[in-house]
Amino acid sequence: MKTQLVIIGGGPSGLLLSQLLHLAGVDSIVLERKSRAYVLSRIRAGVLEQGTCDLMRAAKAGARMDRHGKVHAGFLTAFGGRTARIDLEGLTGGKTVLVYGQTELTRDLYEARDQLNGTILHEVDDVELNNLTGETPFVTFSHNGETHRIDCDLVAGCDGFHGVSRRSIPNSVRNEYEKICPFAWIGVLSETRPAGREIIYSRSQAGFALCSMRSDTLSRYYIQCPVTDTLEAWSDDRFWSALSARLPASIADKLDTGPSIQKNMAPLRAFISEPMRYGRLFLAGDAAHIVPPTGAKGLNLAASDVFYLSNAVIEFYKSGSETGLDAYSQTALARVWKASRFSWFMTRMLHNFEGPDSFDDRLQDAQLDYMSCSKAQQTAIAENYVGLPF
Ligand code: APR
Ligand code: PHB
Repeated sequence: MKTQLVIIGGGPSGLLLSQLLHLAGVDSIVLERKSRAYVLSRIRAGVLEQGTCDLMRAAKAGARMDRHGKVHAGFLTAFGGRTARIDLEGLTGGKTVLVYGQTELTRDLYEARDQLNGTILHEVDDVELNNLTGETPFVTFSHNGETHRIDCDLVAGCDGFHGVSRRSIPNSVRNEYEKICPFAWIGVLSETRPAGREIIYSRSQAGFALCSMRSDTLSRYYIQCPVTDTLEAWSDDRFWSALSARLPASIADKLDTGPSIQKNMAPLRAFISEPMRYGRLFLAGDAAHIVPPTGAKGLNLAASDVFYLSNAVIEFYKSGSETGLDAYSQTALARVWKASRFSWFMTRMLHNFEGPDSFDDRLQDAQLDYMSCSKAQQTAIAENYVGLPF
């Protein structure tokens, strides 16, 4: 087989990239390890920056997002028995975010690829990237019990944190930066009325809690827990009482609880691998970076990577110029590091890292107190939350 670009990974990054390239006349083949049903069973985050929404519309995959996504003009923080609202719209000259589940966004991208008869091979194994530093890279893989080879011009590594692409860059070339959080999140999806109209980030002595939603009747909650915990140790009853204990009484007293329809536990880390290019291989999304979800940046960074990479690839095929390809890694990483800074800042401000009454603990109280009374600090948080310019 031959194509212009082989994309490893059929998650949001890979699908969005293949769709944007297809619309610009650039051919690609997506290789995905899992079945489509498995990919669509993943419950992930749900806050889209305007740049991400614009890209979905440019990809002709934004119709359902525009119909069902909820515009959020602000979010709440809760701490010390009080709340402080971050007025995103007012502090950023009218910018907002859209709450729309990543699962739905991924479904929209699959449907858009189907409408253009895009080539996505599912349940592939043993993907290997070859001759990346030459002029004629090729990818080998097994599918339906047979070994295949695709010759191409470029390879996009969109295969997430555990993928093969990043590991195809020699250790001598790669610089990896990582901070592991000393806690995890337990996430619950429930068919209940959300705790509030807007997203609530809460810091309490008992730990962090996040109240989000997918619709007026579908809520998404997260609480901080020890990394040593197991999902089995968290019954629904235990989750709801732990969540209530971490929210101000005015919110907890009205909490609508019910059976979880999905529950997962995820460790938190900040991770960035440099460079995001190696010869003819370009990394995008989780393959290159992971951010703590407190800033809701994971999916949005995947989108800005794809924005830069798709423009560079289209320029390459339309004019032969490699300027965009040469600048890709540096351009993408500049935005990744700024979003990582913000995500780490939000994580530090809202989670319990050390015991109560530690110096750290009191610093966090001061940070939240400062945020509640400083328009400058709220503006800085707001402009990062709605997304820095692509
Ligand atoms: N070969 C083929 N496909 C692979 C391989 C491999 N060796 N390894 C992983 N994959 C697939 C995974 O099955 C997954 O579907 O690559 C895809 C990567 O998708 P994501 O992990 O969702 O990463 P990305 O597309 O960059 O999207 C980033 O997803 O994890 C969230 O928080 C993250 O919201 C962010 C978004
Ligand atoms: C979510 O809705 O899943 C969500 C919202 C905000 C975050 C993280 C996740 O910071």
